[in-house]
Amino acid sequence: MRWTAWEPSAIPSSRRSPDMAESEITGEPDVLERQPEAFVAGARLHDVGGVLLPRPFKIRRVGHFGYNCLDIDRMLDFYVDGLGLIISDQSGRMPGRLPPDEQATLSDNDRLLHFTRFGSDHHQLVFISQKVWDWVGQNNGSAGASINQVTWQVGSLAEVVNGSEWIWGQGERLLRSGRDMPGSNWHTYLFDPEGHINELFYGMEQIGWDGLSKPSEMWSGVLDERPSLPQISETGEVQRAAGAGLDLASGHRVDPRPDQHYEVDGISMSRPFKIVGIGPISLFVDDLPRAEAFYTRVLGFTVRERLSSSGYDGLVLHSGAEYFTLALYESGLRGILGLPDRADSMALGFRVANYRHLRSAVEFMCARGAQEVRVPAELVPGFDYVTHLKDPDGNLVQLYYYQRQCGPADPPTPAVSSSAAEWPEVIEAPPDVFGGQQFLGPWE
Ligand SMILES: [Fe+2]
Repeated sequence: MRWTAWEPSAIPSSRRSPDMAESEITGEPDVLERQPEAFVAGARLHDVGGVLLPRPFKIRRVGHFGYNCLDIDRMLDFYVDGLGLIISDQSGRMPGRLPPDEQATLSDNDRLLHFTRFGSDHHQLVFISQKVWDWVGQNNGSAGASINQVTWQVGSLAEVVNGSEWIWGQGERLLRSGRDMPGSNWHTYLFDPEGHINELFYGMEQIGWDGLSKPSEMWSGVLDERPSLPQISETGEVQRAAGAGLDLASGHRVDPRPDQHYEVDGISMSRPFKIVGIGPISLFVDDLPRAEAFYTRVLGFTVRERLSSSGYDGLVLHSGAEYFTLALYESGLRGILGLPDRADSMALGFRVANYRHLRSAVEFMCARGAQEVRVPAELVPGFDYVTHLKDPDGNLVQLYYYQRQCGPADPPTPAVSSSAAEWPEVIEAPPDVFGGQQFLGPWE
């Protein structure tokens, strides 16, 4: 069953991204032009799980984020040994694509992609050597970027695939679609108008109490083209691997924690705080109206508040109840804040478990040499106590324990109490549909 509002055919070669897989060259010529008025007005609705939406996908939450690192050793020390992120896997696949003379310039940690997490998602922050990224990104214009991905979870694999087709139909620039390993998530990558790489994904591998990632032998599911639907479930893949005699306990296991001598709200822990959430993501942009148009009309974010600081404008946007999920700031603020020219982002947010954790985290990190940076309050609306630390590459970590939650202004619609057998096949979307707590991993 196809849920897209149009059937694919040929897309002109001039609209292709250089890295696009052949299977992504689809789309109907007469819907290739951007038509923001049409879908803003709801003229073209899409069936997303029986709910009619203006796009064939809905961003549910921040999934993960990635930094390209000038000093990957110090970045890992800051985020893993300092903030307590957990390494879930390390892969040499991408660095292995560099020619031997380039590889000879890499340190041991440069030769790996480092996937880290604080929760059960396989990865929530990814570290890649800047040298590796610049070589790999030389053909798609992303060399020099300090961010390798800004990643959003959508609701299903169908939303990833149909969303990819629809985004292409809006005239946006896709990078590639498929599935990456490790992490097992199905995805599509696309550029925003500023060149920031966004990703929509479904089905992130979940890591449980034993701290085990999937065995590398299961990474054979890498796919560099848009998947045909349906695809095998994760349960099916695991059953298949077990049936082939694979040792399911042979994947990366979480490294042992150092001494757990901090008593933290009744628990013995290795540091006096715990990161429990990621986001918001704050980006610098050169053309704010153009970026706003992309993130609202294409990705479906809603503007929560417009702001200005030191003569520069910005805005914060949301995809759910959080006050903001994403912030866009004019890039002139980069110098005002003393951030390096290479910084694509103003900050990456991390929520800690409570207010005491927040104070303890700052004390703990500053004792390790981190520098606290004062960011004007008008740039971070929706928080109370919030601070920023500078990481070794000069990126800002936004630390907080609370962010305001918001609901629609209108009262809730009355519950439909008739028999489900009488309900329509598809329904109009409530204003905050698919908001709230999200399911994390693959469905099965
Ligand atoms: Fe990703």
